[in-house]
Amino acid sequence: MRSIFVLLLLVATVAAGSVYSRYKSSSSEGGDEPDGDLWALIVAGSNGWFNYRHQADTAHAFHVLKAHGVPEENIITMMYDDIAHNPSNKYKGKLFNSPKYVDVYEGVKIDYKGDDVNAENFLNVLKGNSSGIKGGNGRVIESGPDDRVFVYFTDHGAVGLISFPNDILTTKSLNDALNWSNKNKRFADLVFYLEACESGSMFERVLPATINVYAVSAANGKESSWGTYCENDRGLPCLGDLFSVNWMEDSDVEDLTVETVGEQFKIVQKETNKSHVCHFGKMKTETDPLSWFQGAEKSVKHARRNGGLKSSLQHKLDTAVPSRDVETEHLKRQLAMTNDADEEEIIRDRLDEIQMKKATARRTMKSVVSVMYDDEADTLLENNKRRVFYMEKNDESSIVNYPECHHKVVHTYRRLCIANPAEDMEYAMPYVYVLNNLCNAEAGRSHDIMEAIIEQCLEKTLL
Ligand SMILES: *[C@@H]1O[C@H](CO)[C@@H](O)[C@H](O)[C@H]1NC(C)=O
Ligand SMILES: *[C@@H]1O[C@H](CO)[C@@H](O)[C@H](O)[C@H]1NC(C)=O
Ligand SMILES: *[C@@H]1O[C@H](CO)[C@@H](O)[C@H](O)[C@H]1NC(C)=O
Repeated sequence: MRSIFVLLLLVATVAAGSVYSRYKSSSSEGGDEPDGDLWALIVAGSNGWFNYRHQADTAHAFHVLKAHGVPEENIITMMYDDIAHNPSNKYKGKLFNSPKYVDVYEGVKIDYKGDDVNAENFLNVLKGNSSGIKGGNGRVIESGPDDRVFVYFTDHGAVGLISFPNDILTTKSLNDALNWSNKNKRFADLVFYLEACESGSMFERVLPATINVYAVSAANGKESSWGTYCENDRGLPCLGDLFSVNWMEDSDVEDLTVETVGEQFKIVQKETNKSHVCHFGKMKTETDPLSWFQGAEKSVKHARRNGGLKSSLQHKLDTAVPSRDVETEHLKRQLAMTNDADEEEIIRDRLDEIQMKKATARRTMKSVVSVMYDDEADTLLENNKRRVFYMEKNDESSIVNYPECHHKVVHTYRRLCIANPAEDMEYAMPYVYVLNNLCNAEAGRSHDIMEAIIEQCLEKTLL
């Protein structure tokens, strides 16, 4: 009995020892801690006051990494930078990512601002392609075969695409860049955290399973992601996004040499229960300690500065709003509070305008489908049936089976069917699945789909 106990103790000690050495810095003992450096790319893809939360998330992410010892030189930050000093910001020069109101703007180092925050620059920074960069300070990820890369992106999204302030990035472009970087040994491992509506569709069946990339999305391909801290006592728009603040508030306080990537996934998936947090790619990465991707130092001071403990999960859930409703919900709250007739009218007009834009986007999609089959349908009835069919969601609507077709079609749609895409693409996002339906059904006919879009939208730009 006693000898079994001793044996167990011995086994436990050895196991603990091997776990310990694995997390230790390679320079001291040459354990399993990988050689190489850690690089990070953190991006807010939006601008505009109602998207306050994306830049607050990004600034907070910068501090999370820095507090855990990632050198500033290895963190590349892209954010439009129109929020901290926005005329609507009563707290000039400050950004808050939680109702503890710790200013996360202070000390943040921004490499790409304004219109330099775009898909082209993002891809070139990711690939380490300096010659392709336009604007910003020109910095790129200078990683090599032994290095690890952490990417965090937060913004609006739709089936197979995410937004930049004046642009979109498709699942094809993103996964081509990841695949290229993997092939060209730009990293040993890359972890990608993505906050956006329908963000699962950026990776599902598109991210090659055999490359060294592990991705986590805030939502599956069919649903909204959620803003949080939307009702806050300073009257600001949502301060954060639910998935984003859940991983960051976890990383704020944890010892990242102990918690693994997979453990954080589990925690965040459980807490972010308004949507389905998904994981893709190289699952083996889940056994790696988080420190490999977010830094190894303890962040006691940072945690204390951030209020010490995580905010109440219940509060985050109670103040959560689907991303695409953040603006209208905020306007409705303002409407309920105002006594000023003029302001009331301005808000009502804006609410009507948003409603109209969404309706127009839907109508345009319907027309595109109609035009597509106009010449072929034997009868009006048949065309109508098709229109109904493609306007409905099916099991594959959120899965980009033909990234090439999807890429061409959504870019054509955005360019031709939306007069002011930088402003208004987000109102069309709920209907992008229709274009994906067409590609899934008619992949060989991407040209015909584009023709239909051109015919429908060239003369009468609708949105
Ligand atoms: C790097 O940028 C240059 C200039 O835009 C471009 O021609 C080249 O294709 C880019 N390389 C990669 C790997 O994307
Ligand atoms: C990824 O790159 C490899 C070459 O390294 C290529 O064979 C493969 O087709 C690419 N996959 C995708 C999905 O682009
Ligand atoms: C999400 O979690 C909260 C708190 O644990 C719980 O009250 C709520 O019922 C859960 N919601 C769903 C949809 O599971």
